[in-house]
Amino acid sequence: MDVNNVNVEEIVRQVLLSMEGRGQSASAPNGAAAPSGQGEKAIPKTARVAMLTALEHYDIKEFPIPEVGDDDILVKVEGCGICGTDAHEFKKDPFGLIPVALGHEGTGEIVRMGKNVKKDSAGKDLHIGDKVVTCMIFKDNPDITMFDLNKQNVGGADVYGLLPDDDIHLNGWFSDYLFIRGGSTVFNVSDLDLYSRILIEPCAVLVHAVERAKSTGILRFNSRVAVQGCGPIGLICIAILRTMGIQHIIAVDGEQKRLDFAKQLGASGTVNFKEFKGIEALTQGVKDAFGGYLADFAFQCTGSPAGHSNIYKFIRNGGGLCELGFFINGGDATINPHFDICSKEITTVGSWVYTLRDYATTFDFLKSAKQIGLPIEKLITHTFPLNQINEAHKTNLAMSGLKIAIINQ
Ligand SMILES: NC(=O)c1ccc[n+]([C@@H]2O[C@H](COP(=O)([O-])OP(=O)(O)OC[C@H]3O[C@@H](n4cnc5c(N)ncnc54)[C@H](O)[C@@H]3O)[C@@H](O)[C@H]2O)c1
Ligand SMILES: [Zn+2]
Repeated sequence: MDVNNVNVEEIVRQVLLSMEGRGQSASAPNGAAAPSGQGEKAIPKTARVAMLTALEHYDIKEFPIPEVGDDDILVKVEGCGICGTDAHEFKKDPFGLIPVALGHEGTGEIVRMGKNVKKDSAGKDLHIGDKVVTCMIFKDNPDITMFDLNKQNVGGADVYGLLPDDDIHLNGWFSDYLFIRGGSTVFNVSDLDLYSRILIEPCAVLVHAVERAKSTGILRFNSRVAVQGCGPIGLICIAILRTMGIQHIIAVDGEQKRLDFAKQLGASGTVNFKEFKGIEALTQGVKDAFGGYLADFAFQCTGSPAGHSNIYKFIRNGGGLCELGFFINGGDATINPHFDICSKEITTVGSWVYTLRDYATTFDFLKSAKQIGLPIEKLITHTFPLNQINEAHKTNLAMSGLKIAIINQ
């Protein structure tokens, strides 16, 4: 059979189908708005939004889809990951946002856009049908361009999925549609599959952490690297290090299932801290896993103060540490400044969130990780439809999986 002919036939079939689809949607049933431009699909009049209306409770609400202005983009949501920040909001509402449309690790397809929308935040063309993600919005400093942002962090930036509710309501990715207002940061990621797109935001956290680690000058191609904590954050850290070509990566955690997955994502060895009594024995375990050496560099990826105290012991004299496990205040940790930092001359960096530049790097990382066969998509262990968002959050809090995602039908 001539493969090329088959492809042409398939393409013709698709074109005919899509033409039929346009014909149908112009006489739109169910009160759907007719498409206003070429290539646009019919859009319903209303969209479902999962609103967190009380602690530990979402309601699925229905809101009208607003008119899309000249600078706006309307996205049909395909899916969105549940983040640790969503879990905090769900349990305690620390930002005081209730009622709020949550979900910032989302992605979907552009179904309508204003006439002034031409390019994404990286200068890539945008069209109806493109798959996009949003990033934080740098309202307070509009002059910053994407590639000037190395040192810029998240302070003062707004994030879809953490915006106060307003009369638009379609402000979070846990919904059918997201309304992206002019001036927002948006990226065309049509060349990534759905699960990769959902993982962009947490992966950007680790791209940033690795960039911070590189700034010490200690993290090198042949470094021995310890990664402590094998939740999604530590696991992605391992995948990034492996994708960069680093071979000697020891994962430290107490959950054997997570340690086993760490190996699939590129760890060369693992240490289960529950098998060791006391920090000296554990340090020896890490050293043994490196073949008799301490780590040149370590990433601290737990929110545990004990984890912070321990990690200095795993690092050689003159080595480096990136602490990224405390996105929120997890309490004080005790270290011995003489033994842990001063006499060892450890170089430490902190890392918090990411920059726009890290976002762009993340797209390349996700493609490279797949190319070398890392099963990054397996980080998404559970998926739920939008109407089961309360169950999805409870599964997330139970910590029985890794990344939990809402996938729209
Ligand atoms: N820097 C940032 O911008 C940023 C962004 C997101 C998350 N975070 C932080 O990263 C941390 C990890 O996130 P996650 O989603 O992977 O969390 P998680 O809770 O799923 O994973 C943490 C892992 O650490 C392990 N652990 C706990 N104590 C340990 C110890 N003493 N030694 C070794 N392992 C230990 C746990 O078994 C678990 O597997 C969180 O505390 C979060 O606040 C930081
Ligand atoms: Zn997040």
